Amino acid sequence: MTDLQDAARRVLSANDRGGYTVPTPRLYPFQWNWDSAFVAMGFALFDVERAVTELEWLVRGQWADGMIPHIVFHQPSDSYFPGPDVWRTPHTPVPTSGITQPPVFAMALKAILDAARQKKVQLEPGRIARLFDAALAFHRWWYAARDPDGTGLVALLHPWESGSDNSPAWDAALARVPVTTTTPVRRKDTGHVDAAMRPRDEDYARFIHLVDLYADCGWDPVEQWRRTPFRIADIQTTAILARAGEDLAAVADGLGRTDEASEIRAMVVRSRTALAGAWRDALGRFVSRDLVSREDVTAPTQASFLPLLALDLAPARRDAAEREMRGWCEGLAVAFPSTPRSSPHFEAKRYWRGPVWAVINWLLIDGLERNGLAEFAADLRQGTVAAIERVGFCEYFDPVTGEGCGGEGFSWTAAAYLHFTAMSART
Ligand code: DGY
Repeated sequence: MTDLQDAARRVLSANDRGGYTVPTPRLYPFQWNWDSAFVAMGFALFDVERAVTELEWLVRGQWADGMIPHIVFHQPSDSYFPGPDVWRTPHTPVPTSGITQPPVFAMALKAILDAARQKKVQLEPGRIARLFDAALAFHRWWYAARDPDGTGLVALLHPWESGSDNSPAWDAALARVPVTTTTPVRRKDTGHVDAAMRPRDEDYARFIHLVDLYADCGWDPVEQWRRTPFRIADIQTTAILARAGEDLAAVADGLGRTDEASEIRAMVVRSRTALAGAWRDALGRFVSRDLVSREDVTAPTQASFLPLLALDLAPARRDAAEREMRGWCEGLAVAFPSTPRSSPHFEAKRYWRGPVWAVINWLLIDGLERNGLAEFAADLRQGTVAAIERVGFCEYFDPVTGEGCGGEGFSWTAAAYLHFTAMSART
């Protein structure tokens, strides 16, 4: 093990709260949904039991309808806004937020089982069956609550559900959302991190309006779907869901759950077909769809290429996507940018409006490899590893200068480092 791999493991231990891992202290003092899935995949490389525990703690927050919330508030903390008093969700005994996050969960479950097999670690079958059931309920929830018309693309009802909170992809839809007049916005994030790296106050006022609206709907998914001004059929989330579905179906096979495996595969087929239909030749990338305005979301962001994770592109499309992606990387200190530098919305240090995120690279690299673009995948992996080795386990990177931004000692960056360096050792 290298010194940096040891340091990455120490980041995970420092952020361990006795079974679950916070993304970083103070800025994010609870358990976050997709953060924990990546963290579990990091743990799986050296402590399979601990990886299982990470998912089990997340499932403590799962709702009766299958939704796994984006935050589980295991312990109180006053260093974060909005806390449980703002969410006002009915979940007990552990309070949670009322929205979700990208469903990386089943990818993590499969990675854990693969690691256990490889390392010959015996996991208690009941624990795995419970995690499988939780993942299956989560996938069913996505299709029932977020794709009631059966299009194959699942919808987000809040920018936070994308994990890419203030992406330019949401600008037009968010402009329709009023600013809150009911809940005072008492931001804590800008006390921990430079405000220039975070979403703007106006974004927060709209984020919180949506929380107020959904609390007013009693967190009923049908009512939320009906009343929301923000409803986006999202390619990034759908690609992750489809890929996680492939993994979940493989887990179902391993558990002998044949009927469920077929059910999951049918969901995956529906999503893959819909993702393929979201390609736009004129742009050389994929687009999400605003279900309120009924328009394509054409703002270029990292999401434009996430469908590679779940699709096997025909050569012409694959080459066009690669050309476009390589164009976005030109002249950058580190890639892949969450918004291309050529966009008028590009901001090198502001959260999801330009910066590079190691876990997005993780997914893109997986998608590039799946599509036979191994050389590009290796470049991206080496670039990410080099960026982390230069500036440490920061939340994200300025693509122009390579500087580390946002929170420090960040769990998912440490997990990504462990994953990438383990991959390099294999190749
Ligand atoms: C935040 O608070 O910044 C989160 O991204 C919302 O989950």
